[in-house]
Amino acid sequence: VRSVRAARYVTPLREGGSLPAIVEGDDDGLYVAKFRGAGQGAKALVAEVIAGELARAAGLAVPELVALELDPALGRNEPDYEIRMLLKASAGVNLGVDYLPGSVTFDPVVGPAPDAALASLVVALDAWVANVDRTARNTNLLLWHRKLWVIDHGAALGFHHAWDAARDTARAPFPLVKDHVLLPWAGALPAAVAALKARAPREAVEAAVAAVPDAWLSGEGPFAEPAAQRAAYVAHLTRRLEASDLWLEEAERARAALV
Ligand SMILES: Nc1ncnc2c1ncn2[C@@H]1O[C@H](COP(=O)(O)OP(=O)(O)OP(=O)(O)O)[C@@H](O)[C@H]1O
Ligand SMILES: [Mg+2]
Repeated sequence: VRSVRAARYVTPLREGGSLPAIVEGDDDGLYVAKFRGAGQGAKALVAEVIAGELARAAGLAVPELVALELDPALGRNEPDYEIRMLLKASAGVNLGVDYLPGSVTFDPVVGPAPDAALASLVVALDAWVANVDRTARNTNLLLWHRKLWVIDHGAALGFHHAWDAARDTARAPFPLVKDHVLLPWAGALPAAVAALKARAPREAVEAAVAAVPDAWLSGEGPFAEPAAQRAAYVAHLTRRLEASDLWLEEAERARAALV
């Protein structure tokens, strides 16, 4: 991912549990900044980059992700205490998501209904990366330029909160798929899984994992160095895609239960 320096804190976003904000970059672009110092921590940012880049590899529309460099001086004059503390705790590399001006949140009641191939691809991706955050209440889908964009993958890759068990969760169904907002339209799941496998081979997984800045992989857990942690992400995700039958079956079952 590109590196961009944060030039100005523009405004906090009204929605969003992690106090995301609109930030102007030194390239004059506007970004939705997701801060390393937020409660969700660096792992949420790791999940954003890996799942986001996998979504892009799969052919979904994803806003560009950048490494957003934050100077500690940026928030010094910020009047809001909570924001000032957040910026102080986030000096260094944060996540920038290309801001889509005028986009609207996808609402399943309002539509438009996505076609089966697209809905299935989103459901398959989310089952693969175990993204629990694409429900009717919180769709994390934006409509922009008549296309559906996927955002907010910070809650994916839950296995990285328990590396000891990660070997088992690599071969596990994803029961929460039953709450996926696009499940009712996902009438082409087997083809979507095949597309995932074709478009996101091991090299694509390696590339997505390589896109994570070292600063977010700080020799945590059983890992002495970032390279070992990257290898563990790649191993888990490739194993999980090989075991797609398990979560595909679970998704089909959940879909059948909808009607
Ligand atoms: N790239 C973007 N362009 C335009 N608006 C965006 C973009 N990214 C996020 N938003 C808006 O900001 C909101 C919060 O962003 P996001 O969901 O990524 O943050 P969050 O803190 O993880 O939220 P939550 O945990 O509440 O789902 C989104 O629901 C959307 O309305
Ligand atoms: Mg969100």
